[in-house]
Amino acid sequence: MRQIQWFPGHMAKTRRMIASNLSLVDAVAEIIDARTPLSSRNPEMDSMTKGKPRIILLNKCDLADERATQRWISWFRAHGSEAIAVDCKSGKGLKAFLPTVREKVLAELMEKRRRNHMEGAPVRLMVVGIPNVGKSSLINKLAGSKRAKAEDRPGVTRTKQWVKLGGNVEMLDMPGVLWPKFDDQESALRLAFTGAISDDILDSESLAMELLVYLAKTYPQALVTRYKIEIDDGDGGLELLEKVGRKRGMIVSGGEIDTERAAIMIVDEFRGGKLGRITLELPTETEQPCGE
Ligand code: G4P
Repeated sequence: MRQIQWFPGHMAKTRRMIASNLSLVDAVAEIIDARTPLSSRNPEMDSMTKGKPRIILLNKCDLADERATQRWISWFRAHGSEAIAVDCKSGKGLKAFLPTVREKVLAELMEKRRRNHMEGAPVRLMVVGIPNVGKSSLINKLAGSKRAKAEDRPGVTRTKQWVKLGGNVEMLDMPGVLWPKFDDQESALRLAFTGAISDDILDSESLAMELLVYLAKTYPQALVTRYKIEIDDGDGGLELLEKVGRKRGMIVSGGEIDTERAAIMIVDEFRGGKLGRITLELPTETEQPCGE
């Protein structure tokens, strides 16, 4: 997994980069992980984009609980941000992207341009999001072969490139890479579950045990179906991990359960969607978008 260390200097540079690019675009496409819609958002996003029209893309919706994703979409809309669910790996949901930008996110600008007979002017967007959330996948899916890869332009310094997406929309070929929400333990854990942040915040067994406890509480059926285990009331992380390891025949010499192997498998299977479509955070009444 690619890792980015978010030192204060790096954050300041990112803020500056976003601020200077913002002046070039009409709207921002903020891409977040549909499994962790709050933790995968940048805590300063709202203040950084300073009222610029914005669309939120709940990406990796193929891995998230469909009903939860619908709740999040309603929640973001209720808080004034247009939001759609997408899967940038397969391209599912992306058909709605450009029409939503033109007709909803930028409705006012489009109307103003119509009045001023400026309909021909391109609409310009930039993509922002935390590492690994799917920014490159989005740009590649939307731009397809029209996007020249950096390595295909030898000797050319990577300057600002605009990718034409059709419908007179252009996207900045360089996404804004932001840091995720790190300010509480719960968020850090959820980001570790999805692989959005480095695995070294926890050893694999602790991570798997935390994940199992979380799943036993919120999606017990996913564990029962995948691993054919029974979940008992008092089961903690270790008991669950051992149950899965035993069921999978992960036994080392002496009859002990190879909990490390089981842990790695569980986290991998979770991230690959093999346990089903799971969302790790739900909107609550008191939840507020970052920065509000
Ligand atoms: P980034 O630019 O924001 O850093 O993210 P990038 O597009 O590189 O995507 C990171 C990983 O997430 C990639 O997986 C990518 O395939 C996967 N991904 C992106 N969008 C989706 C989605 O909607 N659904 C699912 N299931 N996965 C998505 P990878 O393991 O790094 O590569 P690979 O599996 O594609 O080979």
